[in-house]
Amino acid sequence: MAIRNIVKHGDSVLNKKCREVVVVDDRIRTLLDDMVDTMREADGVGLAASQVGILKRVVVIEVDDKVYELVNPVIVERSDETAVKNEGCLSCPGVTAAVERPVKVTVEALDRNGEKQRYTGEGLLCMAFCHEIDHLDGLTIVETAQEFIDD
Ligand code: NI
Repeated sequence: MAIRNIVKHGDSVLNKKCREVVVVDDRIRTLLDDMVDTMREADGVGLAASQVGILKRVVVIEVDDKVYELVNPVIVERSDETAVKNEGCLSCPGVTAAVERPVKVTVEALDRNGEKQRYTGEGLLCMAFCHEIDHLDGLTIVETAQEFIDD
């Protein structure tokens, strides 16, 4: 396990689309472990692989003491209702952005054993699912913001 360097906004890797993982192997499991360590070290609630410079569709989230390890995550259901909430990002230090998201989403992803799982999230978990999956498509809060909030 290791702490990886978090890429900051302005680095073009953050705006590239990540590729699907073909096989969930030990390299992916090591990446997941390192990403959890890196997220915790930075006191974040989520981290996408592109934020550590790896263009693969891999995400980790920790909300309410539960860790979610998502490989090839896809939002399969989203509420029609949306809300605008303030978000930050480990790659965008000092930036707070108001972003419109669904209030509830269901995500399908492979777990660390390559098995398909389904998760439904509201509140912070929903925000994290949406925020991290945006990262996999090359979007940070700088691109998705409705407006920027002065601290
Ligand atoms: Ni982020």
